[in-house]
Amino acid sequence: MNRAWGLGVGAWGFAVGDSGTAGGGPLPNAAGPSPQPLAPNPFLSVRNVEKSFPEGNGRQFVLRRISLDVAKGDFVTIMGPSGAGKSTLLAVLGMLDGDWTGEYRLLEHVVHKLKHKDRIALGKQYVGFVFQQYHLIDDLTVAENLAMPLSYRDVKADDREAAVADTLDRFGMVAKKNLYPRQLSGGQQQLVAVARAVIHRPALLLADEPTGNLHSSQGKDIMELFRELNAAGTTIVQVTHSEENAKVGKRVIQLRDGWIVD
Ligand SMILES: Nc1ncnc2c1ncn2[C@@H]1O[C@H](COP(=O)(O)OP(=O)(O)O)[C@@H](O)[C@H]1O
Ligand SMILES: [Mg+2]
Repeated sequence: MNRAWGLGVGAWGFAVGDSGTAGGGPLPNAAGPSPQPLAPNPFLSVRNVEKSFPEGNGRQFVLRRISLDVAKGDFVTIMGPSGAGKSTLLAVLGMLDGDWTGEYRLLEHVVHKLKHKDRIALGKQYVGFVFQQYHLIDDLTVAENLAMPLSYRDVKADDREAAVADTLDRFGMVAKKNLYPRQLSGGQQQLVAVARAVIHRPALLLADEPTGNLHSSQGKDIMELFRELNAAGTTIVQVTHSEENAKVGKRVIQLRDGWIVD
């Protein structure tokens, strides 16, 4: 029964090589002037990022002096115990959160100086995000949820429909396309969340425990998808507790109590 959800390896033809835009949103090679060349051509560069919440008379720090360079085509794994700040860091990188101090540059964009609206727009342009809690839109069907990132990008209706049909097919979800998230299992919702994050071929894929609710063969297929996307040029930052998943990436960053350790 679940075979429709079995993601055969090799089902991901869309990930590589069938267009000139693989792995690239717009401007993937923007060689623009880097305001501070902190590392050789980092795709993104974070300096001294801190985030805290008010607590009692003081503040509880969730991210402490985070500095990180990620090159184009890198594949970074963030690991660490629950509460370490992994999801918080991913939200900063994905430009979903603007309430922090420090510096963040993405290509030629100075994220820490952007207005809220421009930061969100930049995120929509560059980022595909797999949320830990999926965040599918309850009153949209699977197909409509998949179309969302395309609608942000002014993709023509015909092309949008074709991309949605293609993705439904490749994820084995054609039979589910008119269902609503509540009609899916947790694992199925997670697959939709992954599909939605990659359908627009973002230059930067951020994934928060993207296989946490999948059975192991589906989890392997998702990691194979990430491997192919990365080989085609997509920059990836994933959060995982899985050593197996971490091995698919190129390097691991450990977070503890908001600090990068090692
Ligand atoms: N809105 C909030 N108010 C106060 N504390 C928060 C809030 N959101 C997250 N935190 C705290 O930030 C810390 C890091 O959370 P999170 O980034 O979700 O950790 P992880 O993803 O590594 O499990 C946790 O201690 C959490 O309780
Ligand atoms: Mg988390």
